[in-house]
Amino acid sequence: SYPLMEKLVALSRRRGFLFQSSEIYGGINAVYDYGPLGVELKRNVKNRWWRDIVTAREDVVGMDAAILMHPKVWEASGHVENFHDPMVECRKCRRRFRQDHLPEGSTQCPECQGELGAPRQFNLMFKTFLGSTEEGAQEIYLRPETAQGIFVNFDNVVSSNRVKLPFGIAQLGKAFRNEITTGNFIFRTREFEQMEMEYFIRPGENTQWLEYWAQERLNWFRSLGITPEKLRLRAHDEDELAHYSTACYDVEYEFPYGFSELEGIADRGTYDLTQHINLSGKKLHYVDQDNRGQKIIPAVVETSAGVDRTVLTLLADAYWEDEENDRVVMRLHPSVAPFKVAIFPLFNKDGMPEVARKLYEDLRFKFAAFYDTGGSIGKRYRRQDEAGTPFCITIDHQTLEDRTVTLRDRDSLEQIRVSLDQVEQVLEEKVGT
Ligand code: GAP
Repeated sequence: SYPLMEKLVALSRRRGFLFQSSEIYGGINAVYDYGPLGVELKRNVKNRWWRDIVTAREDVVGMDAAILMHPKVWEASGHVENFHDPMVECRKCRRRFRQDHLPEGSTQCPECQGELGAPRQFNLMFKTFLGSTEEGAQEIYLRPETAQGIFVNFDNVVSSNRVKLPFGIAQLGKAFRNEITTGNFIFRTREFEQMEMEYFIRPGENTQWLEYWAQERLNWFRSLGITPEKLRLRAHDEDELAHYSTACYDVEYEFPYGFSELEGIADRGTYDLTQHINLSGKKLHYVDQDNRGQKIIPAVVETSAGVDRTVLTLLADAYWEDEENDRVVMRLHPSVAPFKVAIFPLFNKDGMPEVARKLYEDLRFKFAAFYDTGGSIGKRYRRQDEAGTPFCITIDHQTLEDRTVTLRDRDSLEQIRVSLDQVEQVLEEKVGT
């Protein structure tokens, strides 16, 4: 166990970032629920991604496919045949382990020293039934990646939109994997969200686009305020590559347990479209008007990030025990912080609550704002420090005299006085985009 991870679990529960799923029934392993602060943080991550990868780019469109898909999709994608991990089971305690997560040549259970059984392949896809009765119902899967929703809609998007190579199709949504080994809080869970983009290109341009997107994605994580020295790009060795890819970079973050993957940027070549052409018999090609109407199957560079892993990274990177000032601070970047500003009346009297409430009501449609009257001002500041709120505004006696307020900076603790008329503008500059 890692002290930082334990502190994050405790803070997340205490402050309402994350809860164990179905906690009142003893919980369910490796599934988590987002509380009021967590859902804001997660939504901000997703909004930033969507803005930066879809809204701000002329060459990328979005879509949102259903989670349930035809079972043939997973045959074509190779997931039925290849999407499994080698699993060993302890004959004594029946615990299951991923063989490649145990020291090489292990024969004993790391938990109870019992004898380990022979390794077998365990498919990670969740199965369920489509139809009214289990007999006669069709067996289908919960999607283990969002990407296939994009590939099977390739022709729909091309023929309904005026997209021209190179172009991307992006999608954000839930994915499910019946992971053998879970743990490290929300790093590896059984239900999670992905932010994926398939970038369709002319075959032969793979390497240049792989390099381009790897750099873009690394820069995106930096733009969330994550410590740059703790982020890196790592090229996959050949034996690590997924069944569909010929080259891949991971964006990795240095967690307490070492550098681990946040996002994969993969050269998927023409693998997926070719597989779907073969199995569906449909024409999934692109007519290249810039090249005498030639019909081509585009190649693909994929960017595939985990929402929850990004949230975990932001929490781990933000956690700061400010011993000098005896406080715990979540130094979240303003663009992802659940609340951008908290507003307090210093005392619940002398007209201070009225001014504070009016300011809160004016600001809250522009900035996620929090209003708090409970407890001493010191306590209220500390609560916001733990929530990661970058700015606090206090209405005090002086406000009633000269219409200025105190604006406190979470990290530096610097306090400046700002005129009530200028608060919105000053916050806009400080919070940024
Ligand atoms: N479409 C490609 C794909 O799914 P992946 O490397 O298997 O590639 C992409 O997954 C990203 O999804 C990972 O980098 C990670 O951030 C996230 N992810 C995958 N499995 C996860 C899990 N069990 N829990 C949380 N996030 C996961």
